[in-house]
Amino acid sequence: MNMNKPHGGLLVNRINKNYQVNTANTEVNLDPIALSDLEMIANGAYSPLTGFMNKKEYDSVVHSIRLPNNLPWSIPITLPIEAKKASMIEIGETVNLVHDGIIYGVLSVSDMFTPNKQEEAKLVYQTTDPEHPGVRKLLERPNIYLGGPITLLRYPKRTKFQEYYLEPAETRARFEQLEWQTIVGFQTRNPVHRAHEYIQKSALETVDGLLLHPLVGETKAEDIPSELRMECYQILLDNYYPKHRVFLSVFPAAMRYAGPREAIFHALVRKNYGCTHFIVGRDHAGVGNYYGTYDAQKIFQHFTDEELGIHIFCFENSFYCKKCESMGTSKTCPHDSNDHVSLSGTKVRAMLSEGKLPPKQFSRPEVASKLIEGLSKTLIETGK
Ligand code: ADX
Repeated sequence: MNMNKPHGGLLVNRINKNYQVNTANTEVNLDPIALSDLEMIANGAYSPLTGFMNKKEYDSVVHSIRLPNNLPWSIPITLPIEAKKASMIEIGETVNLVHDGIIYGVLSVSDMFTPNKQEEAKLVYQTTDPEHPGVRKLLERPNIYLGGPITLLRYPKRTKFQEYYLEPAETRARFEQLEWQTIVGFQTRNPVHRAHEYIQKSALETVDGLLLHPLVGETKAEDIPSELRMECYQILLDNYYPKHRVFLSVFPAAMRYAGPREAIFHALVRKNYGCTHFIVGRDHAGVGNYYGTYDAQKIFQHFTDEELGIHIFCFENSFYCKKCESMGTSKTCPHDSNDHVSLSGTKVRAMLSEGKLPPKQFSRPEVASKLIEGLSKTLIETGK
């Protein structure tokens, strides 16, 4: 088995900067999620998808976690439009995909349908609670889905860390140059703390390289802004990681907070970027108490290694143990939870906002100092 093939066998490329666009076409507005999805379909990150899902693909993914050809796929990739706009569009026509007045792509309309959003919420997010950030977004977006193949005509504007935007073809080429045969992908929407570092380095003991692949698309307001996180990742890599074993690049997709379903999606997409392995730890892509701690690991049991084409490294909840004087999990540490340094995300955020350094067993001090500095700047800028 060649573990390194893109999902479905071929890396999709639907970028055509020379496309002669007809400005008389109907314009469809893209929100930030749709704009990032457009880019990710076009650059092959979402291979084998070649466009926004039609009803058959959507139904199959929502109900079976598979595309109609049986390939695993867990998150519906949809283009929601308003009913008024839908009434102006006919199947078969080409529409221009616009964001902030700029045409970024075109879509050849093959389908238009009204989804059952309650069902989508229940099956994809396991809840219809509008407080869930992914469900809230799903319900807020317009109610008709436009399906069909797309072409990207220009890249979305990058305002920050341009050099870290590598496409799947580019990361694959870099891994080849580096002569890495086994690469573990790490998804994160947070600064990297000691627990993250521990599971990354544990994985790195058995593979050639680590792709540190933070998600930098839309996240919920309480999450740390990606600009600040990128500075922290760089500080951490400079101080604590071997230079030639780690590659930092960004994943410009939006966060869905869909827990188990999103873990599969994250793994398949990292396979497209060239990873052979992917880390799933505690409550991957979770939020609040919507998912069980290890649900995002258990869901992989429904698929064979062959059909996923990427090996999943599962890690238990990791912590620093004061008695062991090292990082560990319940698999490697015999001591009581009272001996463990564990802090909730909310607690850490509160400490940082007050300018207090979390214990060095929780976060590297250089990272925590940068977070304190960055968050105080954000507070001043937003006046909060
Ligand atoms: S996520 O939403 O992107 O999954 P986060 O950035 O916190 O959130 O997590 C990145 C990865 O690290 C996920 O695979 C997650 O399961 C894992 N992880 C986070 N914290 C821990 C921990 N304390 N122990 C084990 N795994 C963890």
